[in-house]
Amino acid sequence: MSMDKKTSYKPIGVFDSGFGGLTVLKEIVSEMPQYDYLYLGDNARAPYGSRSFETVYEYTLECVNHLFAMGCELVVLACNTASAKALRTIQQKDLPKIDPAKRVLGVIRPTTEIIGNYSKTGNVGVLGTAGTVSSGSYLVEIEKFFPNLKVYQEACPMWVPLIENNEYNNEGADYFIKKHVTNLMQQEPKIDAIILGCTHYPLIIDKIKKYLPADVQLLSQGTIVAQGLKDYLQRHPEMEKKCSKSQSVSFYTTDLPETFDKAATLFYGKEVRSKHLAL
Ligand code: DGL
Repeated sequence: MSMDKKTSYKPIGVFDSGFGGLTVLKEIVSEMPQYDYLYLGDNARAPYGSRSFETVYEYTLECVNHLFAMGCELVVLACNTASAKALRTIQQKDLPKIDPAKRVLGVIRPTTEIIGNYSKTGNVGVLGTAGTVSSGSYLVEIEKFFPNLKVYQEACPMWVPLIENNEYNNEGADYFIKKHVTNLMQQEPKIDAIILGCTHYPLIIDKIKKYLPADVQLLSQGTIVAQGLKDYLQRHPEMEKKCSKSQSVSFYTTDLPETFDKAATLFYGKEVRSKHLAL
């Protein structure tokens, strides 16, 4: 790579604890194929869903710094757990010190900005990891945009392991999927819109639907975040100009690339060839 090419390579960074962010990256690339993208999955330390605030913050910041070092000016935390537990501190405390011109965005805000438009009854649900649910981030953010909405949450700690172990199509998975969907609906049977508040969950959307009344709408974040990022780049031409446009997508994992590539294809819908990133 020539020096010129190297310095002009400014990909949009997309980060997740492991594979889930690939469901978001897929939609972002499909909406805006012109940019360069750099995906980083922290598979060596996933899952994040059950970890403390401090740990998720520390791991996320470390990965964001790696993405900055690899040329990213803009990073999307395509992980609800990291968005819930690390984003605000990174934006408010770390970015001003690292480089005030760089940006880190999350996945919770774009979803909470629109959820109210999907509910007629004023009752919505959030399905997420234990970390996302206990952070209360969805409650706080939805309140800002739709103060009259009633929000019910359910933590689904078994779902990410079932998905990551490729067990989600088996019978055993149905037990846990049904259990959490039922728990959520028992809190308020009038819930008519549900956020899939974990980037892994689009893989089991059909199974989730099986246990819900037909008129309940399920919101996956991929397309919502892609649209949110597009709007962001339109509103921030100074950032848009910096993002390089050679239509490349590169993948990094903190664990074994061979293992990553096998499962990643399921999430990304296309063959993935990753490289190892040493932390
Ligand atoms: N994909 C992550 C999210 O959106 C959760 C996965 C994990 O627990 O690491 O919350």
